[in-house]
Amino acid sequence: MNFSTTLLQWFAKNGRSLPWRETSDPYAIWLSEIILQQTRIVQGQSYWERFMKLWPTVSDLARATTDEVLKAWQGLGYYSRARNLHTAAMQIVERGEFPKTHKELKTLKGVGDYTAAAIASIAFGENVAVVDGNVYRVLARYFGIDTPIDTTGGKKLFQELAQSLIPSDQPANYNQAIMDFGAIQCTPTSPHCDTCPLCETCIAFREQHIDSLPVKSKK
Ligand code: ADE
Repeated sequence: MNFSTTLLQWFAKNGRSLPWRETSDPYAIWLSEIILQQTRIVQGQSYWERFMKLWPTVSDLARATTDEVLKAWQGLGYYSRARNLHTAAMQIVERGEFPKTHKELKTLKGVGDYTAAAIASIAFGENVAVVDGNVYRVLARYFGIDTPIDTTGGKKLFQELAQSLIPSDQPANYNQAIMDFGAIQCTPTSPHCDTCPLCETCIAFREQHIDSLPVKSKK
């Protein structure tokens, strides 16, 4: 069985059950991705729930004051995320509908390549790969790639590889599968190779390079 199919099977069995995975509401999914940019899921979940209760729709959030939004964000840190979230809510209301494509999503304040790809694939089913720290690690290890991930060439290589692996009928599941796989199975230190469904064909495992991949050029 190939890489992507194995990942999808792993995800069906081991994927995390999270409230924003129960919905296709782009607002709810966008909010989760902004919170998770610099916050762990366990901490982020209660904030996501609080925001959804205070402001159930993007129009509600747009009508809030910046102070109210910052107050609800208190404790999460990186407050520019909260300011950008509020600004983007007003941008969305102004344009009349939630942007639906990777390209349009990137015009929102605080939404870069990663976040746009996550929302486009998860909420709208666009066939676009997410590449975050988890994805770099899983791909670098499985395919034995020692190109540094923090170089222009490295970023391009991993982005293209990630894109080539997406099953076009399941971009949402696949992107979430590889992120969960990196967070749960193929962890930064002490990955669980003994129970890994991909270990037989994993190059880093075979060559005992798990600890040295992925490579970063800068210290
Ligand atoms: N980290 C950030 N967004 C995520 C998602 N949608 N699934 C798994 N991990 C994530």
